[in-house]
Amino acid sequence: MLKENIVELLNAQITHETYAAQLYLQMAMWCEERGMRGAASFFRSHVPEEMNHRDKLVNYMVESGAKVLIDAVPAPRADFDNLVEVLRAAYAHEQKVTAQIHHIAATALDEKDFSTFNMLQWFIAEQREELVLFRGIVEHIELTGFTGENGVAMVQMNRYLHRLASGEAHPELS
Ligand code: FEO
Repeated sequence: MLKENIVELLNAQITHETYAAQLYLQMAMWCEERGMRGAASFFRSHVPEEMNHRDKLVNYMVESGAKVLIDAVPAPRADFDNLVEVLRAAYAHEQKVTAQIHHIAATALDEKDFSTFNMLQWFIAEQREELVLFRGIVEHIELTGFTGENGVAMVQMNRYLHRLASGEAHPELS
């Protein structure tokens, strides 16, 4: 049986992963409304990934005989000044989720809950990949001097994000 504090943390993480899916869908819609198709496809492609994270946690809890409680999901942020702000907010969000996962892992170790700690190894590796991806985008913004203004740089940024979404580009190499 999982300890109560671990069950609470896992249930909270289910909500956080669902929030991430909602946030990226909202970001995709923000981009879509402004004709930023590449950015929209990048964020849309990330929505099922977040749902997959949620489902992995649900599956683990079901297998462990823990009670899954589906909580309300806060409305995601919908207002941004420009695409740079959207992309920086996405990176900040991934940093926050990484800290949440690390906190659960640290708690599982404290509790000598090696099963949960082991399950979380997948999430730790996944968050590392997420940070590489989103940090790569922020570094790309800085390298190209992209300001979020419409113009040639906006078209190029959308192409870059579309290539990332389709797996044609690597965040560290493009
Ligand atoms: Fe569920 Fe993007 O981390």
